[in-house]
Amino acid sequence: MESRWQVPITDRDIGGLAAEIDNNGYAVIKNYISTGELSELQEFVRKAAAGARGQYIGFEKNSEALTGTLLAELPKWPPFVEMCHSLADRSLGYDGPPFDIYQMVRVVTGDTGQRVSGVFHYDSYVLTALLPITIPNDGSGKLLLMKPTRRIRSSYLTNLLDKAVVGSKFMQKQLHKLAKRQSQRIDRLSLQPGNLYFFWGYRSIHTNEMVDQSSLRATALFHYGDPHTGNKLRDRIRAFRGLKHY
Ligand SMILES: [Fe+2]
Repeated sequence: MESRWQVPITDRDIGGLAAEIDNNGYAVIKNYISTGELSELQEFVRKAAAGARGQYIGFEKNSEALTGTLLAELPKWPPFVEMCHSLADRSLGYDGPPFDIYQMVRVVTGDTGQRVSGVFHYDSYVLTALLPITIPNDGSGKLLLMKPTRRIRSSYLTNLLDKAVVGSKFMQKQLHKLAKRQSQRIDRLSLQPGNLYFFWGYRSIHTNEMVDQSSLRATALFHYGDPHTGNKLRDRIRAFRGLKHY
């Protein structure tokens, strides 16, 4: 299928992708963007990394730097948004309200990049769609991903406890041990730039493998679906910590 941009629009397509994520932990649409578009994005992140002298950079949605790139267009493109919404609903188990896609473009390299990689976690949002742009040739920078390990929590507090447990030193150590001995419980995905990957970020423990200091890893992340919309405790925590997303 030629790109611009391939979208599974039928319920059957969405059902197939959701079943794949349930069973395998992830699903992928190969060559989601064209090779020409991919080259443009690779040039964009290469320049961004050079401008940042090799340190970590993150671009949020509506960031001026993304203007004119497909990264600005994609999260606002109705068929893409609908696809994310339909998929997120399959994981939620009900029709969730429309959600403003939370986007982050991460360009990781150098010392700072090493510090922001490697922490296993659950995302705050139901669906994670991941578009790899540049992945190191040396095989580093894999996505480490477990099959879904929890349900959607009806209580925000339980969600926080899950996150605290995974974030604890003990659990991080155990998870890194599993990853190191290449346990089958953790998939180590070699991401192909230009493919679009989906997983249940809220339900599956995951992280990025560290990249070598001299390597560049750039990915665009699109998050959809908030199981805790309007939760007062979370709003207070966000306000206290000055965060928009947690
Ligand atoms: Fe994540």
